[in-house]
Amino acid sequence: MTILSVWKRKKSREQSKTLSARLRDDPAFVKELDFVMEKDGALIGQNMFMRTVINADDGRVIPVLTMGPIGITPEIKRHGYGKKLLDYSLEQASAMGFGAVLFEGNIGFYGKSGFDYARNFGIRYHDLPEGADDSFFLCKELIPGYLDGITGVYQTPQGYYVDDADVEAFDQDFPLKEKLKLPGQIF
Ligand SMILES: CC(C)(COP(=O)(O)OP(=O)(O)OC[C@H]1O[C@@H](n2cnc3c(N)ncnc32)[C@H](O)[C@@H]1OP(=O)(O)O)[C@@H](O)C(=O)NCCC(=O)NCCS
Repeated sequence: MTILSVWKRKKSREQSKTLSARLRDDPAFVKELDFVMEKDGALIGQNMFMRTVINADDGRVIPVLTMGPIGITPEIKRHGYGKKLLDYSLEQASAMGFGAVLFEGNIGFYGKSGFDYARNFGIRYHDLPEGADDSFFLCKELIPGYLDGITGVYQTPQGYYVDDADVEAFDQDFPLKEKLKLPGQIF
């Protein structure tokens, strides 16, 4: 699913196509929050979550969630399925008692589901030079006020870092596809 939804994206982002396979074996993976979406018996979408932390400036370690890859099959993008999948996923994460979700994404899509720039919560993206564009880094509180009084640095879980050699090896199992730039690609 992730392969279909992200195939056209630039190389660094294409790496996410191997992620779904790897993340499910990661200790930070939240197996209760592993979603697929079906329509007429066909798989059309997926989303998943990982545990991670904010290292607060006052020394606390704040547990949070991160999310993705989320994807909808290309033929039916922009028909509202992505938002439905996202909103349902977030409801389930909320029901499990998680306090906040932070990740990299486009405010044009995620803003519709209540995400805001993480900087507005006082949270910084790890390893980002001061003054660099951080508009990709988004946050939503699942428990209102969960991040009140907290400033700090968000850490991407190790599982999201993919080795180039692993990507190449994984790709051998799939037929070649032409790389295109289609409407609806977020990155
Ligand atoms: C991102 C993605 C999951 C969105 O799913 P979708 O079903 O196409 O989105 P929806 O139809 O639910 O969009 C809901 C609203 O979000 C906004 N939106 C959706 N895609 C957008 C985009 N590419 N850019 C800006 N806004 C966007 C729009 O306001 C849209 O409403 P509208 O179509 O009435 O204007 C899907 O396009 C996808 O799989 N993209 C490739 C993979 C990817 O980039 N994943 C995210 C990072 S891992």
